[in-house]
Amino acid sequence: MSLYSSLLRPVLFRFEPETAHRLTLAALRVPGLARLFVPSKPPREERVNLMGLTFRNRLGIAAGVDKNGETPLAWKDLGFGFAELGTVTYHPQPGNPRPRVFRYPAQQALVNRLGFPNVGAKAFASRLRWLRTHHAIEDFPIGINLGKSKVTPLADAPADYLGSFKLLHALGDFFVINISSPNTAGLRDLAQPQELRRLVSALQDHNQSVAGPKPLLLKISPDTEDRYLPNLVEITREFKLAGIIATNTSSQRTQEDPHESGGLSGRPLTHRAQAVAKMIRPLLAPDQILIGVGGVMNSGNYQARRQAGADLVQMYTGLVYLGPTAAWDILGSS
Ligand SMILES: Cc1cc2nc3c(=O)[nH]c(=O)nc-3n(C[C@H](O)[C@H](O)[C@H](O)COP(=O)(O)O)c2cc1C
Repeated sequence: MSLYSSLLRPVLFRFEPETAHRLTLAALRVPGLARLFVPSKPPREERVNLMGLTFRNRLGIAAGVDKNGETPLAWKDLGFGFAELGTVTYHPQPGNPRPRVFRYPAQQALVNRLGFPNVGAKAFASRLRWLRTHHAIEDFPIGINLGKSKVTPLADAPADYLGSFKLLHALGDFFVINISSPNTAGLRDLAQPQELRRLVSALQDHNQSVAGPKPLLLKISPDTEDRYLPNLVEITREFKLAGIIATNTSSQRTQEDPHESGGLSGRPLTHRAQAVAKMIRPLLAPDQILIGVGGVMNSGNYQARRQAGADLVQMYTGLVYLGPTAAWDILGSS
């Protein structure tokens, strides 16, 4: 039993999930604190170059963990190879009423209906600008996940995403177009081919018009029916996106799953996220990458996702249950 599961996790799990998350991020903001909880040697390295970026290993932090870009460097100290920050929206917004995150330890699952609470793209940009000017961040790519502001009508989504993208373009190493979170009304309608083309072309046109275009990826839902997956991938090829992130949380439930409404993540998602990764891989162009996420709770899940063709792997819920040594538990020690 680790120090986390025997001591720290029981204390944190006494708090409401969102409060526990706040406390964790506050602790991680203390410089160097994260390193006290982990082995002195980094987890097993596997340097790899993808999308023109160098990763020291293939395991990253998924979107939602650090929504406001508060602790990007702590994730490096915790052994991860990259972090995806956000979701950030153009307008600052409070998200849905609490409670909005629920823990299910017996199922190693979470349900959330946060609805993108975040400081907004402008404040997010100032924070990252400060970080970039005060720290040389090497071999630790930082992605930024973009979503639609709640106040923006669906028809104006392209301009809303584009507003955030312009503010943040210079500050992220790669960008993720999020059309798959289940907690913003209508967001998933942006996966309809016509809507998606409009959104992706607005972002890619801008991206290609500036010096130093950034890799753009599409994050998809596990609830997309199998027969629509080829169409989604085709659109990413048409607009030369760098790849796909599969998957976000699920709104679907089996009898045994937690029934709270929102997006389900963790162990109940493992099977579907793995299946989607397997279906997506052969459809991608050779120069596109696949980032596999969803129910990666141990090294077996990680290996399986890699075998399904994921170039990179991310986690969120596994981090809650495994704690600060998650990257070592999954990648092994060096
Ligand atoms: C509390 C919580 C908040 C999340 N917030 C976001 C988000 O803001 N944007 C996003 O694209 N995905 C978000 N996700 C989804 C994760 O990035 C990930 O795709 C999903 O949880 C599946 O991975 P997991 O099983 O390892 O948690 C969130 C997940 C959780 C549990």
